[in-house]
Amino acid sequence: MEELFNIKGKNVVITGASSGIGENLARMYAQYSANVALLARSKEKLTDLAEELKSKYKVEAFPIPCDVTSEEQIIRAVEKAVSCFGQIHVLVNDAGVTEKSEDFTTHTKEQWDKVINTNLTGVYLVSKEVAKNMKEHNYGKIINIASTAGYMGMFNQISYTASKAGVIGMTKSMAVEMGKYNITVNGIAPGYILTKMTNPNSSGYRYYKSRTILGYVGEPDYLRGTALLLSTDASRFITGTTIVVDGGSLSNS
Ligand SMILES: NC(=O)c1ccc[n+]([C@@H]2O[C@H](COP(=O)([O-])OP(=O)(O)OC[C@H]3O[C@@H](n4cnc5c(N)ncnc54)[C@H](OP(=O)(O)O)[C@@H]3O)[C@@H](O)[C@H]2O)c1
Repeated sequence: MEELFNIKGKNVVITGASSGIGENLARMYAQYSANVALLARSKEKLTDLAEELKSKYKVEAFPIPCDVTSEEQIIRAVEKAVSCFGQIHVLVNDAGVTEKSEDFTTHTKEQWDKVINTNLTGVYLVSKEVAKNMKEHNYGKIINIASTAGYMGMFNQISYTASKAGVIGMTKSMAVEMGKYNITVNGIAPGYILTKMTNPNSSGYRYYKSRTILGYVGEPDYLRGTALLLSTDASRFITGTTIVVDGGSLSNS
């Protein structure tokens, strides 16, 4: 059992590690003795988190500031992670944003570009650089954080739903191409999770709370088990799929 889910000593790159789900997963990997490279734009938060994880869990933790909308910064950040680790075993593509508008006729091109560049192009570019290292070592686990928004129509967030549907599609194609290198590529599609991106005083919160089968919305902690599964030998025969972690909201009638 312990061997199946063993992540000790593995090297994990996480984007979006400065906040919410990404930060929570970074804490989880460090707690289970994996080394972490923490990517996001907020340098100070990453530095503080890295210091905390190093002293608390005695792992290696590297803050690597990086804007995932910049290909140049991604190339430099992954080079840095490779120089720190040698081998990258796991990549978690978590960095994401959303932009809201009344409907898609008022969604601006700037909003569209920001969301697509971060959530979709960012996942493609970071995976592209990290997978080069994984191919060299004939091993890798890529986890793309999608969303239930990628499976359904949703009010007010046209670029977000498009980006997440894109991530779910791209996950399958990446898996198809990476299988022969012993690299698995999977997604996690969270439902409503309480983070900076969501708001417990909103109509969206009330709507999703009423939709979940379990009767409550999610916390970042609830994604830990699925992320650990997809990062370890426990998932050796799982690739090209996206696991929905949403308290049953997509399945509710
Ligand atoms: N919360 C939910 O209900 C929910 C549901 C489904 C899916 N998700 C997905 O889960 C992921 C994490 O979201 P969250 O809820 O944890 O939100 P969050 O707390 O706002 O965290 C977003 C993270 O993305 C990073 N980020 C944003 N733009 C970036 C950029 N250009 N370059 C690098 N990093 C960037 C942020 O760091 P910096 O600002 O420091 O760069 C932050 O670390 C996203 O992909 C989101 O779509 C969330």
